[in-house]
Amino acid sequence: MSTTEAQTSERVTQIVPEALAAIHEVLERHRVTEEEWSAVLALLTEVGRADEFVLLSDVTRTSVLIDAMSHDADEAATASDVEGPLYVPDPPWREAPVRIYDDYEGSEDGEVLFVRGKVTSTDGTPLPDAVLDIWQTGPSGGYDIWDERQPEFNFRGRFGVAESGEYEFQTMVPKPYTVPTDGPVGRYLQAVGQHPWRPAHIHFKVTAGGHEPLVTQVFFPDDPYLENDTIGAVKPALVRPLKRHDGAERGLDAPFSTCDFDVKLRRSG
Ligand code: BEZ
Ligand code: FE
Repeated sequence: MSTTEAQTSERVTQIVPEALAAIHEVLERHRVTEEEWSAVLALLTEVGRADEFVLLSDVTRTSVLIDAMSHDADEAATASDVEGPLYVPDPPWREAPVRIYDDYEGSEDGEVLFVRGKVTSTDGTPLPDAVLDIWQTGPSGGYDIWDERQPEFNFRGRFGVAESGEYEFQTMVPKPYTVPTDGPVGRYLQAVGQHPWRPAHIHFKVTAGGHEPLVTQVFFPDDPYLENDTIGAVKPALVRPLKRHDGAERGLDAPFSTCDFDVKLRRSG
């Protein structure tokens, strides 16, 4: 047995009996019936078939708990946040000036947003080899994978930063949306009386040589779901103001917004 296998086995033999004892205690205290337990097993079977275990972990706020335990609250570094189930690997590489979307029928009422900032180490050293990987919903219809009107990988993309560590990308202001409700997790939410809404946000994965990768999200003030995100993932340090500008400043025919978001990565090792 390798060292990793031995460590895994030790963790399993420590944790599983305690987890089972906790579940058994609740089942016993509530005198859960055979019918009720069968319904739980049927739901979990469906969650697996529908590939919704990550979503279940998110809406039960288990992902937020694991994230909090996995990343020390280090004020010098940008706070991490959960990835969620809607990341799509290998998004297109976007060259500067970076724009991560194409217009679509439904985007005309949305507002253009430029997100910009600097990627540095926690001591302020710029990280010119940093790569950002972004995903978010459009201004209508949610994620590209749910919306036939949007081209593949709309509001998704990877790109690099300047020598100074600075980056900028053009997107549109996202809107609050509901997590998928048409599967078993949707039925679970309904059964426990939990709403499915998330506040508007933009997901980031940021990597740079010699540094711990960061997965996080950025939120915006005055969102109706900031205080009651269904996955409980809002962190005050990740709420960033939107500043409105006259379109003429960038040769646009409508007002646009900017959002500043500097990213500070921890050295690895
Ligand atoms: C998301 O933000 O993409 C997300 C997170 C958790 C569950 C569903 C969606
Ligand atoms: Fe999201």
